[in-house]
Amino acid sequence: MAEIKLVIHAKGAPGLRLLGLGPNFMPRKGLLKLQQLLNKHAFWAKGRSERKLRRLLAGSTVVVSLWHNQEMIGFGRATSDGICRAVLWDVVVNGNLQGQGLGTKVVEALISTPSIKNAERIYLMTTNRSDFYLQLGFKNEGCQTLLVQKPFN
Ligand SMILES: CC(C)(COP(=O)(O)OP(=O)(O)OC[C@H]1O[C@@H](n2cnc3c(N)ncnc32)[C@H](O)[C@@H]1OP(=O)(O)O)[C@@H](O)C(=O)NCCC(=O)NCCS
Repeated sequence: MAEIKLVIHAKGAPGLRLLGLGPNFMPRKGLLKLQQLLNKHAFWAKGRSERKLRRLLAGSTVVVSLWHNQEMIGFGRATSDGICRAVLWDVVVNGNLQGQGLGTKVVEALISTPSIKNAERIYLMTTNRSDFYLQLGFKNEGCQTLLVQKPFN
């Protein structure tokens, strides 16, 4: 397989967000590729418009993408206040390439950036992939309850 490239984007991912840039700042229709990756492999993030994705990237503290040739094959992002709390969001790997350590690379890249690793606590929500995060050092927090409000539903 050709080399897989991991990109740690600048805060808010301006190159990806505004110009669709991939590795080495090359134009790769990155926003469209991100939309396709999420539509196909992230059940919770289907149907997000490019406008919504631009807003989401702009509001992210850390953004990581994985590329194989011209394709975006993995993605993850995090928000953080830099000191107390950080949250991982939208970690996904192309279904054909799962189970090869790529998701681990995405999460390790996210949690090793200063704004995430300096937070007292790193949170994440997962529906059915807790095993993946447990082997990365996350722990079930049995004493906390997840509450959700859905203003638009
Ligand atoms: C979850 C996901 C990001 C993991 O990425 P990945 O590249 O497949 O994971 P890795 O190859 O790095 O996995 C490393 C280890 O995690 C564990 N793991 C990964 N996926 C798992 C799963 N579905 N169930 C149980 N354990 C899993 C395994 O222990 C694996 O170790 P092994 O290689 O010794 O088997 C990827 O499967 C994915 O995109 N799934 C669909 C989207 C999704 O559910 N994302 C999570 C949102 S919270």
